[in-house]
Amino acid sequence: MRLIIVSNRLPFTIKKLKNKIEFKESSGGLTTGISSYLESLKSSSFIQKEHLWIGWCGTTIENNLESSVRSKSLNHYNALPVFLDQNIMEKFYTGFCNKTIWPLFHCFALYTHYDKDFWDSYKQVNEIFCENIIKILKPTDIVWIHDYHLMLLPKLIREKIPQAQIGFFLHIPFPPHEIFCLLPKTWRTEILEGLLGADLAGFHTNDYTQNFFKCVLRILGLEQNLGTIVLNDRIFRADTFPMGIHFNKFFESAILPQTIKEKKLFAQILKNVKTILSVDRLDYTKGILNRLEGFELFLEKNVQWHKKVTFLLMVIPSRIGVDNYQRMKTKIDESVGKINGRFGTIDWTPVVYQYKHLPFHTLVALYNMCDVGLITPLRDGMNLVAKEFLASKTDKTGVLILSEMAGAAKELGEAIIINPNHKEEIASSIKDALEMPYQEQQQRNEIMQKRLQSYDVIHWVEDFITELNDVNKTKTNYNTKILSITEKNNLLKNFKTATNKIIFLDYDGTLVPFFNQPEKTLPDTEVFQILSTLSKSLSTNVVIISGRNKITLQNWFKIPNISLVAEHGAWIKESNKDWKLIKPINSDFKSKLIPILKSFSDKIPGSFVEEKEFSIVWHYRNSDTELASTRAKELLDDLIFLTANMDLQVLQGNKVIEIRNFGINKGIAVNYFISKNNFDFILAIGDDWTDEDIFKSLPPNAYSIKVGLSPSYAKFNLEDYKEVRKLLFELLK
Ligand code: UDP
Ligand code: G6P
Repeated sequence: MRLIIVSNRLPFTIKKLKNKIEFKESSGGLTTGISSYLESLKSSSFIQKEHLWIGWCGTTIENNLESSVRSKSLNHYNALPVFLDQNIMEKFYTGFCNKTIWPLFHCFALYTHYDKDFWDSYKQVNEIFCENIIKILKPTDIVWIHDYHLMLLPKLIREKIPQAQIGFFLHIPFPPHEIFCLLPKTWRTEILEGLLGADLAGFHTNDYTQNFFKCVLRILGLEQNLGTIVLNDRIFRADTFPMGIHFNKFFESAILPQTIKEKKLFAQILKNVKTILSVDRLDYTKGILNRLEGFELFLEKNVQWHKKVTFLLMVIPSRIGVDNYQRMKTKIDESVGKINGRFGTIDWTPVVYQYKHLPFHTLVALYNMCDVGLITPLRDGMNLVAKEFLASKTDKTGVLILSEMAGAAKELGEAIIINPNHKEEIASSIKDALEMPYQEQQQRNEIMQKRLQSYDVIHWVEDFITELNDVNKTKTNYNTKILSITEKNNLLKNFKTATNKIIFLDYDGTLVPFFNQPEKTLPDTEVFQILSTLSKSLSTNVVIISGRNKITLQNWFKIPNISLVAEHGAWIKESNKDWKLIKPINSDFKSKLIPILKSFSDKIPGSFVEEKEFSIVWHYRNSDTELASTRAKELLDDLIFLTANMDLQVLQGNKVIEIRNFGINKGIAVNYFISKNNFDFILAIGDDWTDEDIFKSLPPNAYSIKVGLSPSYAKFNLEDYKEVRKLLFELLK
């Protein structure tokens, strides 16, 4: 098994210097996180050791240089560069990725551009990535796609290689539904469908996972159950995996000689002052300007701290081509100048500002020596800097001030958590942090360090891959249950040779598809042709077994020799006989419960109550999926509570909730038929949970088929009603 990591950004970025090509370390959480995991693999016991990283090399290079870049990438980084044209890259990376998705997903709706050319390039680059991957993919490889640049890629690969094992991880927030819907309809649909091409999608926090599911429900109408969505031919899962850091690497590096040397240099410059540190890529999402305003207010309010504290503002150059970023840079320069001009003295510079990449040991030295980490993004998928700051605190002193808008805040509750938009809060938290007793600092940090150490980046990857393998195993179980050609031929052979046969067929979803209005689901000519031909044979008994009422079934199926079961087994009509009740049934409960169901149908447009002789049903197929399924859960709770002492069953079916007498189910009706005769061929086909009672009650030699690919007691699955009809036609031959 080989792990194929796919991301737009490779761990290195190529820089062209006249005739020379330089490989430089990339910045950002994605590459540092994955790189440190891959580094750790050398000493890990996890089996996923072989790997390849596929991505863009950060610039456009001439064709004649491609092969040397390719071989250096492979030899030094185990990486396969994707070469992309400057023009496409401009629209894809600077355009769609950083002017559309990045601002929108971080809820900066006003910064978002909606440009068709950008979208077209996004699709094109995702396709180019797909072609590059397909060329090298082996059947046992695991493909793990990262981040917002490549959200269409899972589906593109799936279309080419249906059996591929594909994981996806989003390193930025997934926005709430109302923000996501600012994207044009086709884009948002294609992005969600793209992601559903994966087997497993991961998000940093539960909120992002829930936002994603909500969008899938409202836009694609697909419901999740315990994080799993059943698609036509497979399952898809989404889950929360908060990305960790390589804790030990930071902790241990903090005491290495190189780091200590760096610390000494800083100490000489920053004599006798407390230090506040922030490290971010230059990005408007990071809240750098708000932070500076907060610091300015702190200085204004706390004269006693003048000359005793310095703010080290480390900004890493990023996305220089995007205009918003350039504007930010100018504003930061101005703000730093303003604060230093206002409060600085010859012997004290309140803000020490640096705009460049930091070598690893310099970074760890800063983390280790600074008293306060001031991390105040306006919105951030995770924020690894906050975790790295804590991990580098070998003596456990130091205070982290963290924005509640960073994904990391969900795991670091012992930090001082602030609202980054509120400069008063920033200012007062700086004072609190600087004045916090050492003992309290250590107590807080110890708890957070333990947490970060136990769920580090190695755990993060292993958790993700383990769950991906798990989804794939479940997927394999599904595949093996699909009625194979061999099994189908056996079934046909047994049917032909048997002399006393019975076939139980559910109706809605099994013989016909679902329609929005149940009364319109009339059997068509093909259904009549199948049923009347089958029931003509003296050796074959056909039973339509449905939840519908007896009048409907009787009016629809005027076919000689056919038997009918109505209301999920309450009523039985054997061929050419009258209806009879399977057992004495009480219907008094209806008058008590109908008003409750009606109160729900009044509140949920499109839903309605159906009254049958011995049961009542609330249908919500025509309603807004999200609203109705939330209400359905409430109704279920209410009904279960109200019927606790009654001999009733409350059941949730396919967009319906039904209340009926206990002990009446399709299984009992099936037993009624089976016990009357010695059948040598039994086949039952159904799609709903009510059909599970049939499957459970069948003898071991019977054939049972579940329509749809969800888990079932049935022995086999068929994809949909069309496949059922195909099979029944084959029985007729
Ligand atoms: N980092 C970097 N270059 C630097 C300074 C920091 O690559 O000069 C790393 C830092 O160690 C951290 C990452 O960049 O791992 C930033 O990740 P974070 O999640 O905080 O923010 P992102 O940049 O991904 O938005
Ligand atoms: C964030 C994104 C990453 C991206 C990084 C640096 O961490 O989630 O996907 O690689 O920023 O941004 P860049 O545009 O330089 O790749």
